[in-house]
Amino acid sequence: MLLGVIYIPIMPTVDKPTEKTLAELGVNDARGVAEKFAEVRARFDRQVALDADEIRNLMLQEAWLGSDADPVTSLRNFWVGRKAGVLTLITENWLKKSPPSLKGVIGKQFNELKTHIEAKLEEQRKRIEEKTEAAALSREQVDLSLPGVVRPIGSHHLIRQVFQEIEDIFFSIGFSVVEGPEIETPYYNFEALNIPEFHPVRDDMDTFYLELPPSSDKNTAPTPLLLRTHTSPMQIRTMEKRQPPVRVIVPGKVYRRDNPDATHSFMFHQVEGLAVDTDITFCDFTGTIEYFVKQFFGPSVKTRFRPSYFPFTEPSVEFDVSCPFCGGTGNSNGSVCSKCKGAAWIELFGAGMVDPAVYGFVNYEPKKVTGFAFGIGIDRLAMLKYGIDDIQVFFQNDVRFLRQFP
Ligand code: FA5
Repeated sequence: MLLGVIYIPIMPTVDKPTEKTLAELGVNDARGVAEKFAEVRARFDRQVALDADEIRNLMLQEAWLGSDADPVTSLRNFWVGRKAGVLTLITENWLKKSPPSLKGVIGKQFNELKTHIEAKLEEQRKRIEEKTEAAALSREQVDLSLPGVVRPIGSHHLIRQVFQEIEDIFFSIGFSVVEGPEIETPYYNFEALNIPEFHPVRDDMDTFYLELPPSSDKNTAPTPLLLRTHTSPMQIRTMEKRQPPVRVIVPGKVYRRDNPDATHSFMFHQVEGLAVDTDITFCDFTGTIEYFVKQFFGPSVKTRFRPSYFPFTEPSVEFDVSCPFCGGTGNSNGSVCSKCKGAAWIELFGAGMVDPAVYGFVNYEPKKVTGFAFGIGIDRLAMLKYGIDDIQVFFQNDVRFLRQFP
């Protein structure tokens, strides 16, 4: 064991003068001492100038290769190792075992040799260190002219793309976007929209209520909370905060306890629209809606209103477009159009003039303001525009579907 390194005992294949005494080597005067030290020094100089592979071979020959197999460390130990290095051998075999008359000259030669060996080994260490550093630097150098790593990036989901299309159209006519909470109170989702408890309209919006922890005050029940069934609560929240003129659209997720099928999902998307001012007429309303539909589906699409009912608009309408699949004929390739079922029209969304009763909930003066509102089901709108026949594909996250809408 030498400096913590195990050396493999191999029979030496080279002559080792330092393992003999000077007398055994036939040296008995100062000249002979100087010659022996010169031989040792020359041997060292040859070895220290070798490269790593050559040193490894040499150390094998010298029966001196450390188990760590680092030839440079082996060489150092071979020469200056405390237990059996060449310098130690010289001290033991040449210096200590020589006649007193030669000790002075051997000691002087020894010190010179020792200084020389240590300086050269230090030089070698620095040389190797610099070489290793330079190699590491050149390995780590960044070539800025190389092309970058191209990481595939995803695309916006089709629903997000449709939201953006709709937002752009409404931005162009002066609307801005507001967003609101998906967890609502019954007040905003129903009551303030003129839908009191037990109103039959609530049946159409089968609602998810949240299970709430009991209130800390045992005498009061916690305020019930629900997942909003439409984006219309944001009509109220917006009018509570802003005075007319108001022109906003509200994109977002809504939830209903509807059984999933090709056109129903329990979570879907709507864009609410609300415009309130002092002089908004039914004509502004129809003009705005028609502008939107023609921008979205193209100028050839025809539109129509049908009377409908919502508690928070009066009059209320359903807005239909001529079926974009059969060109509004009801027939496709000689048979009944499968999308509009031959009706030639497809129902798009509900809308109407804001019911004056709603203004009462937000402290607007019903006699001074008028406005309109609409609520578009985005998933069905996207299905219509892109010819998708099952709403469920939006939520299955199958990349084969998603990649079709980059
Ligand atoms: C409403 O939600 C009203 N808030 C719309 C409104 C706003 C009227 C402002 C007047 C003024 P309705 O329940 O019809 O209306 O829903 C609107 C649209 O949401 C429907 O036309 C349909 O496109 C979509 N929709 C409704 N239920 C589902 C469902 N389960 N899955 C997917 N889309 C749905």
